[in-house]
Amino acid sequence: MMGAISIAIHVTAAATLIGPQILMFFAVIPATWIIEDDEKLKRAITRVIAARFGMLAGISLVTLLVTGLFQYYTTVPESVRAAPEDYLFGTIFSLKMLMFTILLILIYIHMFRYGRRISALSDQVIAAEEDPFSKRSDEVKELRSELERARQKSFGFSIFILGTSLIILWLGVVLGEPTVAWTKLGL
Ligand code: HEM
Repeated sequence: MMGAISIAIHVTAAATLIGPQILMFFAVIPATWIIEDDEKLKRAITRVIAARFGMLAGISLVTLLVTGLFQYYTTVPESVRAAPEDYLFGTIFSLKMLMFTILLILIYIHMFRYGRRISALSDQVIAAEEDPFSKRSDEVKELRSELERARQKSFGFSIFILGTSLIILWLGVVLGEPTVAWTKLGL
């Protein structure tokens, strides 16, 4: 019973991790491209979206980790857990944990490398917009296009995060399928 509840929560968290990523990619970020010449407005909007999206992703990741470990110790048969390497389960589970670690690393890079660079450039563009005499117009133009390129790179990088999340989802589905996961290896 507890196992079933845990799996229900685990799958809900998986949906909450992936659904918003697809919407961000397909609709939300493209919608922000409409705002072209008001960096202050664009920044304010993307800040709310990023903070709330990040909250959903963070809660989902922690929930997946907690329920996933709980499942490992409760719903996985004792015989499989005693020698996971003898079953397909062991291979899939190790791969899933490897991909989960890679996912955390990719998210870290996305936040701290790309996120910080975009914030810094955005600050500079806003400052230039507010005081148009402080910088020459070609300098402001250059800053704007640098910011644009940084945003494009960040958007491109997020494809890897979505791809990794989907691979983990599919590995999870296979883990939950006894006819595959409990198959004994080497027979
Ligand atoms: C450290 C993190 C994680 C651990 C330890 C973990 C562990 C597990 C385990 C042990 C199962 C098998 C449950 C069973 O016996 O049926 C499972 C199933 C599953 N996992 Fe995870 N998982 C983790 C992260 C994730 C993530 C990030 C996703 C999605 C992106 C995910 C999606 C799924 C799905 C869809 C299932 C199938 C549930 C079913 O149909 O029974 N898991 N997970």
